[in-house]
This record gives sequence, structure tokens and C-alpha cells, in this order.
Amino acid sequence: MNHKFRFFSIFVLATYGLMLGVNAIAQTEEKPVPGSEADTLTREDARMAYLVYKVLDKNGKVKGANLEKGAKLFYQNCRPCHGEDGRRVNFNPMGTPAFIGQRAREEMPTFWYQLNFGDEERSMEAYIDEISLEEMIDIAGYAQTLP
Ligand code: HEC
Repeated sequence: MNHKFRFFSIFVLATYGLMLGVNAIAQTEEKPVPGSEADTLTREDARMAYLVYKVLDKNGKVKGANLEKGAKLFYQNCRPCHGEDGRRVNFNPMGTPAFIGQRAREEMPTFWYQLNFGDEERSMEAYIDEISLEEMIDIAGYAQTLP
């Protein structure tokens, strides 16, 4: 290989490397503004991330719920179908019965997803546009106290 070509190759590689480096720094420093075009989290992702990072403690328990408000909200919104203590709808009719309380304690991400986004096929409504985030936390905390 002739010398000129070798120097040229090194120059090109070095420039390319520098560009990659600058690009990587730019990407780590700029965080997209929530809700902006650069913020590519879907509504679902954002809600689930919020649950994991802000609502649950390390044992999967809901933090900061107002249980009194949660009870009232549950009574108004959920009791008509799920029953006063959450045991009217059995989510596992083929095996060990599973009710809202058990789901809320053992599978809060499932509970939270269903509460926010519903499940059309199973006629569970989506509440993300009906109930505020704060109220959802109250409901989720209260649901963890149900049998
Ligand atoms: C109009 C009736 C109705 C109302 C009101 C309702 N649900 Fe449901 N919900 C259902 C039905 C039906 C299912 C699906 C049951 C099944 O498939 O076994 C369901 C499923 C769920 C599930 C899924 C559980 C799982 O693990 O699969 C959760 C969690 C839930 N509801 C929570 C709530 C909460 C909390 C409220 C009040 C904010 C509420 N629901 C209000 C009818 C309702």
C-alpha cells in the first residue's frame, strides 16, 4: 500500500470516528421533552413506565394512595361489575379463582394496564380519559386491600 493512501485512510477513519463520537454525546445530552415529537414513547409505554418508576415500591406495593378516596372511586366506578369486594368477576373460571384484589397485589402491571387501556374483547372499559392519574393511584392502592 502506498503511503499517501495509507495516510488518507487513517484521516478518513479518524474523521468518521470523531463524527460518531460527537453524535453519541449529542444523543446522550439531549433528552426529548415529554410529549414532543422527539419523544417516541407511546401513551401505553409512558403509563407503564410511570407505574414502575413512580408508583410501585420495591415490593410491588402502590405508594401514596389515598385509600379512602380509592374506596369511594371503586364503589362508583368498578363495583357495578366487579362487586363491592371485587369478587363478582372471576378472571380465572377454569382454575384457582382470581379476583381484582389478588390481581392488584400480585400483578399490578396487568391491573394497571387494564385499568388504563381496558380490554375490548373482554368488555373491560379503558379509563385513561375518564379517571385522573392521581385517582387511578388511589383505586390501585385500594384494590390491593381487597380479598
Ligand atoms: C361494565 C363492567 C365493568 C366495569 C364498570 C369495570 N370492569 Fe373491570 N372488567 C370487566 C370485565 C367483563 C372484565 C374481564 C373479565 C374476564 O375476562 O374474566 C374486566 C377485567 C378487569 C381487569 C383485568 C384483570 C386481569 O387480570 O385480567 C381489571 C384489572 C379490572 N377489570 C379492573 C377494573 C377497575 C379497577 C374498574 C373500575 C375503575 C373496573 N374494572 C370497572 C368489567 C368491568
